[in-house]
Amino acid sequence: MLRHVLRVDQFTRTDVERLIVSAAHMRTIAERGGDDRLRGRILATMFFEPSTRTRMSFESAMIRLGGRVITMENASETSSAVKGETIEDTVRIVETYADAIVIRHPVAGIPERGAQVAAVPIINAGDGAHEHPTQALLDVFTIQQELGRIDDITVALVGDLRYGRAPRSLAMILTLARNCRLILVAPPGVEMSPDVLDALASHGVEYRAEIDLVAAAREADVVYMTRVQKERFPDERSYLAVRGQYQFGEQHLEVMRPQSIVLHPLPRVDEIDPAVDSDPRAAYFRQARNGVFMRMALLDALLNSSSTLA
Ligand code: NCD
Repeated sequence: MLRHVLRVDQFTRTDVERLIVSAAHMRTIAERGGDDRLRGRILATMFFEPSTRTRMSFESAMIRLGGRVITMENASETSSAVKGETIEDTVRIVETYADAIVIRHPVAGIPERGAQVAAVPIINAGDGAHEHPTQALLDVFTIQQELGRIDDITVALVGDLRYGRAPRSLAMILTLARNCRLILVAPPGVEMSPDVLDALASHGVEYRAEIDLVAAAREADVVYMTRVQKERFPDERSYLAVRGQYQFGEQHLEVMRPQSIVLHPLPRVDEIDPAVDSDPRAAYFRQARNGVFMRMALLDALLNSSSTLA
């Protein structure tokens, strides 16, 4: 089933359902101390942009399944890209050292370019403001775990929806859900891009823009907060114009239903008041932990020929 993980629209509903079931199984395996199914396999992680969770959770996932990891955590400064090597050449070399390659890059489309020449699976760990498919998968896994369903839900996507690849990919994966409604809460200038809105419309996903976070919190089953992507703005002034506009605090918890949840791909800057963390509806740390289980499921599907997902 899986050869590369590049973008959300490569997945069918059945793929996502199977990965959710597998990730839940991986949680049990991880809690029992992992297993050895990927013994002898090597994962390369090449990060041309900062990361804490995505890189370390991929590495943790590989190690929990008995595999090993080689890593370039600062590839934009330390890899041969500095000398002018193309991604195609880099991939042709790294695939001789590893059985799969995880790539994060500031330029949209770079992992896909690598995949075109790759003999091993390429996993997109975030490409510019474009996509973050493994985040979207762990987000829907979290929604399934927390709410018991991915259908019949209202999701508020809040913050920088223009440059944020996590909310873009989440919106795209939610086109596979049934009866899903989206509330888009973004400062002027960083609204969701037309390509995503077109995909929502063509899949019959109901969506509306909203400026009031309190109103969105009252209605939503999932409030998905995001960071303003400072590094992607053309200049400081346009960043300053939108930062700090949506901050989730106790006043939002007050209007939220008891069964609803707050998610955030993290890192947060000032989007969620730390006072919210102790509320059981604050699910973002559980969400980050789920990243390990979903990435175990993905590595199993990509690298284990006896996987039910292979
Ligand atoms: C996100 C990213 O890199 O897109 N982080 C992550 O992978 N959890 C979100 C962000 O940086 O704001």
